[in-house]
Amino acid sequence: MEKDSTKKDKPYQTVRGMHDILPKDEDYWRSIWEIGNEISEIHDFNFIETPILEAVGLFEEGIGEATDIVEKEMFSFKTKGREIVVLRPEGTAPIMRSYIQHHLGHFSSPLKVFYWGPMFRYERPQSGRYRQFHQWGFEVIGEADPFYDVQIMLVTLNFLKALGIKGLKIKINTVGCRVCRPTYRKRLVQYYRTQKRNICKDCIRRYEKNPLRLLDCTVRECKEIREGAPIILDYLCQACNSHFKEVLGLIEDNEIEYEPDPHLVRGLDYYSKTVFEVVLPKNADRALAGGGRYDYLGEVLGGRTIPAVGVSLGLERIIEYIKEKEIDPKRKKKPSVFFVVVGEEAKKKGLCLINKLRLSNIKVLESVGKQSLKNQLKIANKTKSKLSLILGQRECFEETVMIRNMKTGVQETVPTENIVEETKKRLR
Ligand code: HAM
Repeated sequence: MEKDSTKKDKPYQTVRGMHDILPKDEDYWRSIWEIGNEISEIHDFNFIETPILEAVGLFEEGIGEATDIVEKEMFSFKTKGREIVVLRPEGTAPIMRSYIQHHLGHFSSPLKVFYWGPMFRYERPQSGRYRQFHQWGFEVIGEADPFYDVQIMLVTLNFLKALGIKGLKIKINTVGCRVCRPTYRKRLVQYYRTQKRNICKDCIRRYEKNPLRLLDCTVRECKEIREGAPIILDYLCQACNSHFKEVLGLIEDNEIEYEPDPHLVRGLDYYSKTVFEVVLPKNADRALAGGGRYDYLGEVLGGRTIPAVGVSLGLERIIEYIKEKEIDPKRKKKPSVFFVVVGEEAKKKGLCLINKLRLSNIKVLESVGKQSLKNQLKIANKTKSKLSLILGQRECFEETVMIRNMKTGVQETVPTENIVEETKKRLR
């Protein structure tokens, strides 16, 4: 057997760049699920889920072989059946695969779907950048109308606003299409040819393989050189020009805060026309969400043109921001009752009664074990339960339960057969 290199003397730890989501953060994650589901429903997006493992070619062809994600960041391995698979680095290519595989275009036009789940990228871990992270995504497939470019921005902003995040801004650009982009690329290469000696090593590689990504470099010297580079807006064909103008017009009609950014190109090759990121003005380098139009992805994966537009929100980054700004995670919590049992007989009967209450949709907490009555009441107090239901030896014998109002301390005894009605009455 091969030696397990992760095995050490100390207990096992999470793999580098990956993290556990712990109960202390439950409210943040549940608020995202609850608000996300509601926002998706209100905006008429239907749920879709694709597997975490996909064929490697889906991303090589879909995202592009010369992107950082495909070149350096994929978790890929060979299965026992000798297939090469990857842990998905993103959700858009799998959804287009699913759209084509299941002929989803026949069922609605356009198809509007949402998804959430873990994505995997072998990046250098740092704050806001992990090797396993979660995205919530929205995709509209089968429509080229700018109406949907802006609807995608609106659903993202409405989601983030509902989570309590204010001051959001859209950075927006267009990356043109097959007609106009080649001319622009040529001009860009011409410009950078004269700068080759001054750009970083990564940019020299980008120059050879994927010149548009030269605009994305964060190295200071490269950023300075970028200032003199030609911008795509001067090379757009008529169709891309009017699409972009319409998008900007709709953004203004909807009073969305935005900033055109002629250097925004994004890290995935499937984009055409609109690209955008949602940022907070003081933290513009760390986007909370990013997306755009990908009208050629359907053709790359399935051989026919399927216009589409979408976005993904980075959930860890959103939660980090909510925590940093001490924004209250917005959750409507159900009132709870705490069930106290004293003695073995009460414990046995208690399980049946607790289940009866839960079947009637009452949230019941308990801490059954070797705890005394006093300790259980102490825990009940900490949980901020409205009522405690106490079952001791005497109550078991008399077939009653004692209900204690945790605020006033008033205690009343009720027959066990009425436990559901009596509890509900007091929770109202
Ligand atoms: P992306 O820009 O690669 O786009 O990722 C979207 C968001 O995911 C980012 O804005 C960021 O918040 C979060 N994110 C990305 N990488 C990491 C990481 N390593 N750690 C933590 N968070 C991260 C996409 O994935 C496209 N599929 C978006 C899209 C949907 N385009 C069209 N439809």
